[in-house]
Amino acid sequence: MAKIYDALRKAEADRQRKVGGGAGGERLDWEPETPEPAKPSGSVKLPSGPRDEGRSRPNQDIGDINKRRIALLQPDSYVAEQFRALRGRIDALDSEGNLRSVMVTSAMPGEGKTTAAVNLSVVTGLSLDRSVLLIDCDLRRPNVHQSLGLQPKSGLAEVLDGKVEPDVAITRVEGANLDVLPVRGRPSNPSELLGSPRMVDLMTDLRSRYDRIILDTPAALGLPDAKSVSAFCDGIVVVVRAGRTRQEDTETVIEILGRQRVVGIVLNGAEIDQGRYGYSS
Ligand SMILES: Nc1ncnc2c1ncn2[C@@H]1O[C@H](COP(=O)(O)OP(=O)(O)OP(=O)(O)O)[C@@H](O)[C@H]1O
Ligand SMILES: [Mg+2]
Repeated sequence: MAKIYDALRKAEADRQRKVGGGAGGERLDWEPETPEPAKPSGSVKLPSGPRDEGRSRPNQDIGDINKRRIALLQPDSYVAEQFRALRGRIDALDSEGNLRSVMVTSAMPGEGKTTAAVNLSVVTGLSLDRSVLLIDCDLRRPNVHQSLGLQPKSGLAEVLDGKVEPDVAITRVEGANLDVLPVRGRPSNPSELLGSPRMVDLMTDLRSRYDRIILDTPAALGLPDAKSVSAFCDGIVVVVRAGRTRQEDTETVIEILGRQRVVGIVLNGAEIDQGRYGYSS
């Protein structure tokens, strides 16, 4: 867990320095970590460019995607490289198919969970011949559809209410080899729905049909939703917003959700210093 704490210390130092208030730029960095039991031997290399060759590429078809995400889809960008590295780490841990569902969360609102979930999903969809589903489990302030330029007619709440079949609500993101189960209606009982037997049944069904499921969630502190989602997820990615997230809050999230399942920390908005933060171990 040493790298997690290095990342958290860095984020805390940034917060205390109050660097730039997060202003400007597409700066995002992350520090991956491997849970002890599944640590792969040797180094995990960044997936090389050719791995993505022959796959469908983002193009004008997804021109409605939030401009920030378009930048992240540039295959040669530093940020895309970081998400490919995170994907590679998750793939390495998933060698036995035991990391099919990965949730993305953070301590507080606005720290970059949806940004991270969308980008991890996109680079995962672009990587190998496999099916990828992104589920928006933020039934309070859903943002995945907006991030991807989708206008859903139904979503997770309608599926859990039994009003529509999952396949009706699931939308294909053209050019990104990605399926999305967005949110349309906002229920009055989000945490109950996420913790319901119907959600368990839905996940059982979806796990049998997708190779990787990534779940965007609300902030983990103060709401039960992320904890409910963690009950049926194999891995957890925790987002830390540099200069903003308190280290103790992130540590609390890791404790609440279970540190053995934390597969990565996204250090969002950090100063880019590739010598120090580029993935190289
Ligand atoms: N590294 C960054 N640099 C600049 N802006 C960013 C960065 N990361 C995220 N943002 C912006 O911060 C806002 C919050 O990001 P995002 O929606 O990904 O966070 P979130 O944790 O999902 O929020 P919520 O808790 O409301 O769901 C968005 O407007 C996003 O564009
Ligand atoms: Mg969000």
